[in-house]
Amino acid sequence: VTHYLADWRPFPYEIAETRLEFDLAPRATRVLSQIDFRRLSAGDLVLDGIGLDTLSLAIDGKPLPLDLIDAERGRLTLPAADLPDSFTFAAEVAIDPEANTALEGLYLSGGIFCTQCEAEGFRHITWYPDRPDVMAPFRVTINSDMPVLLSNGNPVSRAEGRAIWHDPWPKPAYLFALVAGDLRAVPDSFTTMSGRKVALNVWVRPGDEGRAGYAMESLIRSMQWDERVYGREYDLDVFNIVAVDDFNMGAMENKGLNIFNSKLVLASPETATDGDYERIEGVIGHEYFHNWTGNRITCRDWFQLCLKEGLTVFRDQQFTADMRSPAVNRIQDVQALRARQFREDAGPLAHPPRPDRYQEINNFYTATVYEKGAEVIGMLKRLVGDDGYRAALDLYFDRHDGQACTIEDWLRVFEDATGRDLTQFKRWYTDAGTPRLTMTEDWADGALTLHFRQETAPTPGQPDKPARVIPIALGLIGPNGDEVLPTTVLEMTAAEQSVSFRDTGARPVVSLLRGFSAPVTVAREIGADQQALLLTHDTDPYARWQAGRDLALDGLIARAAGRTGGEEFTRAIAGILDDAEADPAFAALCLTLPGEEEIATAIAARGAIPDPASIHQARRGLMQEIGTRHEPVLARLYDAMAVAGPYRPDAEGAGRRSLRLACLALLTQLDDGARAAALFDTAGNMTERQGALEQLIAAGRDEQALAAFAAEFGDNRLVMDKWFMVQPLRAAPDKALARARELAARADFDWKNPNRFRALIAGFTANHAAFHAADGSGYDFLAEWLMRLDPVNPQTAARMCSAFETIARYDSARQVRARAALKRIAAMPGLSRNTDEMVSRILAGL
Ligand code: ARG
Ligand code: ZN
Repeated sequence: VTHYLADWRPFPYEIAETRLEFDLAPRATRVLSQIDFRRLSAGDLVLDGIGLDTLSLAIDGKPLPLDLIDAERGRLTLPAADLPDSFTFAAEVAIDPEANTALEGLYLSGGIFCTQCEAEGFRHITWYPDRPDVMAPFRVTINSDMPVLLSNGNPVSRAEGRAIWHDPWPKPAYLFALVAGDLRAVPDSFTTMSGRKVALNVWVRPGDEGRAGYAMESLIRSMQWDERVYGREYDLDVFNIVAVDDFNMGAMENKGLNIFNSKLVLASPETATDGDYERIEGVIGHEYFHNWTGNRITCRDWFQLCLKEGLTVFRDQQFTADMRSPAVNRIQDVQALRARQFREDAGPLAHPPRPDRYQEINNFYTATVYEKGAEVIGMLKRLVGDDGYRAALDLYFDRHDGQACTIEDWLRVFEDATGRDLTQFKRWYTDAGTPRLTMTEDWADGALTLHFRQETAPTPGQPDKPARVIPIALGLIGPNGDEVLPTTVLEMTAAEQSVSFRDTGARPVVSLLRGFSAPVTVAREIGADQQALLLTHDTDPYARWQAGRDLALDGLIARAAGRTGGEEFTRAIAGILDDAEADPAFAALCLTLPGEEEIATAIAARGAIPDPASIHQARRGLMQEIGTRHEPVLARLYDAMAVAGPYRPDAEGAGRRSLRLACLALLTQLDDGARAAALFDTAGNMTERQGALEQLIAAGRDEQALAAFAAEFGDNRLVMDKWFMVQPLRAAPDKALARARELAARADFDWKNPNRFRALIAGFTANHAAFHAADGSGYDFLAEWLMRLDPVNPQTAARMCSAFETIARYDSARQVRARAALKRIAAMPGLSRNTDEMVSRILAGL
């Protein structure tokens, strides 16, 4: 069944209170519910429930017949005529957490009871109006011998074998959470700006306490930041974070009880990389920020998912920029957006940030909803200015606190706060696809005229793409490198628009789309010397980095087509290397060549068919040339970037290590892995050890290092995930599949654990030339594992189908093989709705 936005109707009842009582047992947990309903309008009471063993149902104590249940459709319908205006609905059901391998609802992870209810997990726990616009205060009783019993809100009482929790803030069922297990707390506290003292805890398994400190520090920084920047204060007496090993996604913002994938909580210098630390800080922030953008103000329906996710990603990006380096983080965000969201927008899975239909909502927790949703807010902020943005957000919190809202509500606060008409802007929310912005230039009589054209290719179900509002931030750089026009924002609203600049002196070079002011692709005529000028002199770090990127891509594309290329880039980065020490993180970004996938995308964008093997060769070849040309300075930087003293996960140290590893990647092309082997043996932190290990794998000199790594970390799941991931990812394309199959046959390839499955399988599919092997063996391998995982964990299986989403850009022989693999999946008996939807959408595009 397809669900449509247009079909949304208000729920005809409201809930005064929801009371739940759990008798926890691994195989048979009993759930007693009492829900106080009040009628709002005419209509039957329809409740959702899936996989429940219903023991009894009652209205105001009077039993109801169980044949009201439509098990097939997962519904319980109570006819309006049989219901008083106010009544208490009660149900008693039994569920089996141990059998719950889908990790949706109540399940067991390493002996810990935990829940995941977003989007529609609560219906696996008991009968309920499982939709985000039905909000209620919850009172929860947990009966269990487990030492730690947690739920949302504030603790009410704790006795032997029983805990009672009360959450006064009305919330939808998707924010419900329960945790019970043998857990240890890493405690701290926080006093809010109005003086409320909040007890904070990060709960981990015994033995992991020493690795939870960074998560706690990040939480405190998040709480301070949201007060300082958004004026948002925490609203309960306790805030709990729990780390579990089995989790489909990153983390979940359940009210007062965030549940995290343990990889986003646990970190120590020996076990976590700089990237891990940065993600932990970002995701802890993200989930905490949801308390206002998601929980206090939630979504009316799941079509509005980006209302909370786009905004919360935008907020976590602002937070990370404040904690670290705004320039470097902006570039990283753009890289991630291009790699995941542009890719999605260009393929069969394209959808708008606010989709208007879906079959399985879990398939829409996408880069488009999250990251493009955040970009759209960034554009809005640029258009209305910082003060306008602040005024709009204040109004949003003021007007909508306690409500379940829509994108229309969101845009209206901007209109009301700033007086701006956002009718056209709204297309960013409703239209899929990445606009392509073309710029041509005229230079006459000392005036530079820029002609812009925007066009967006059709996407599935949306053939016509009207023009959008595109904020184009640009500056002008004179031929001697001076900035002759500082950043100026043009507001493009028509399909074609021109603008002129005079009195700029000699013909300047346009520094275009500064700060990546809109999520568009850019097509422009620009010479290599102009790109080199921007790479050396642009004052905008994003545009400067992008100039180098384009220069490198031009070279790589030429090389992949069998020509020479990359000389200009190789020459131009001398300047970057010269002042690399001033901003090592930035230099590292400039020095790291675009990945193979990105090169393939660029080739396809120029209308050619990418050949994965040639792309791999081209990239290696250029790295070798760069290494050869700059060996002395690379070697000097490699040594200079060693960080003395104890490891600290701050941006400065991370920047130095990232430059060090960027140099190492180039030097490994020349020294056959000598430096990497030495670094692997001596480095005291995981960032450098993993970096060195990856180089050793790529160089085919990994045997000893891999064995040493496994011997040292064999009992640490998170670290062994890295071990499983880097091998198929970094192995030479002709060796990666054999390596992946070998790893998959190991007893410790615990594929039912999503982290472990993703490490190996997604590690492999991210090896572009291996996954796209000409004989289709990569496609077969993925299909085989998706078919194995689907019956066990449909959500994770479905998400990973997106590895196939770019297939239409490759040659027809590859397409035939990928299609055959997809058809095998589609034909599997009992295929989940999740995977079925993904596979059919991808097949429809082939
Ligand atoms: N709201 C969570 C977050 O943004 C994501 C949870 C999604 N989970 C799911 N099974 N769809 O952090
Ligand atoms: Zn989120």
